[in-house]
Amino acid sequence: MLNEMNSLIHFQDVNFSYPNGTIALKEINLKINKGESIAVMGQNGAGKTTLVRMLNGLLRPTSGRVLIEGEDIITSTIGLLSKKVGIIFQNPMHQLFSNTVAEEIKFSLKSLDLSKEEVEEKTNTILNEYGFERYADRSPMNLSGGESKKLAIASIMCRDPDILVFDEPTLGQDANEIKIFLDMLEKESKKKKTIIMVTHNVEFAFEHVPRVVLMTNGRILADGPTNRLLTNETLVNRSSLILPQVFRLKLGLKTLGLEVPDNIIQKVDMVKFLSNYFETEKKEVN
Ligand SMILES: Nc1ncnc2c1ncn2[C@@H]1O[C@H](COP(=O)(O)OP(=O)(O)O)[C@@H](O)[C@H]1O
Ligand SMILES: [Mg+2]
Repeated sequence: MLNEMNSLIHFQDVNFSYPNGTIALKEINLKINKGESIAVMGQNGAGKTTLVRMLNGLLRPTSGRVLIEGEDIITSTIGLLSKKVGIIFQNPMHQLFSNTVAEEIKFSLKSLDLSKEEVEEKTNTILNEYGFERYADRSPMNLSGGESKKLAIASIMCRDPDILVFDEPTLGQDANEIKIFLDMLEKESKKKKTIIMVTHNVEFAFEHVPRVVLMTNGRILADGPTNRLLTNETLVNRSSLILPQVFRLKLGLKTLGLEVPDNIIQKVDMVKFLSNYFETEKKEVN
């Protein structure tokens, strides 16, 4: 009961079919607590995007309920929900529609009951924070892929929602953009934001996200600690993913007769383990 009270998001027996009859979600039961970060993973067509789109109230369950803070979201308005939940879609161009970069931010701030001056001030702060000062009057159509993704993020983050949803955030991002994204995630996570990421990026999830929900064919296949689920070959195969690099290395070393202890899971630990191992080897040779 306590858990029920605490969970910020609760999918309760959710089924969803698109108007053309495609059954996209089947019997989804999922609880997410405030301040958690989770990764939703699984093959294309598994229902990941449909699942997260349920959270802005635009898609409604065919049966079952989606609760936020204990309230069925169909009792809320799209406007109210947009203050609580920010969704950054896979293709940023689908959510950018203003004539200029600055207008995009201003439009997004409209739902917040701010004065005209406050909107101006906040827009300038956001433009600076995201490095868009020089682009303020440029059309969002004329931004690079990475920049338009950044603008889509800025236009959601300026409303400071408690729940952040990213659909394939690292897709098409270069290493530097991924680093910026990670820094932002860390900052938001410290602010007790609840973060849901749809991703195919096993290395990213394995290193940075503590909980994973694996989906297949509209159902939740498994839900639990990333360390455990993403090192389970059966689950990983059924989700069309690959085992994390460190784990594959561990299996490789095992076939060569080198047992790596179970608690060595992350890259940094593996590097330490191997450097200790080679130090000992060297001493033994000498
Ligand atoms: N607008 C739509 N109309 C009809 N079917 C859709 C629509 N969007 C997605 N689907 C179907 O719903 C299923 C789940 O899709 P989706 O949630 O996009 O999966 P994922 O994000 O895991 O790739 C797929 O079979 C897909 O073809
Ligand atoms: Mg998708």
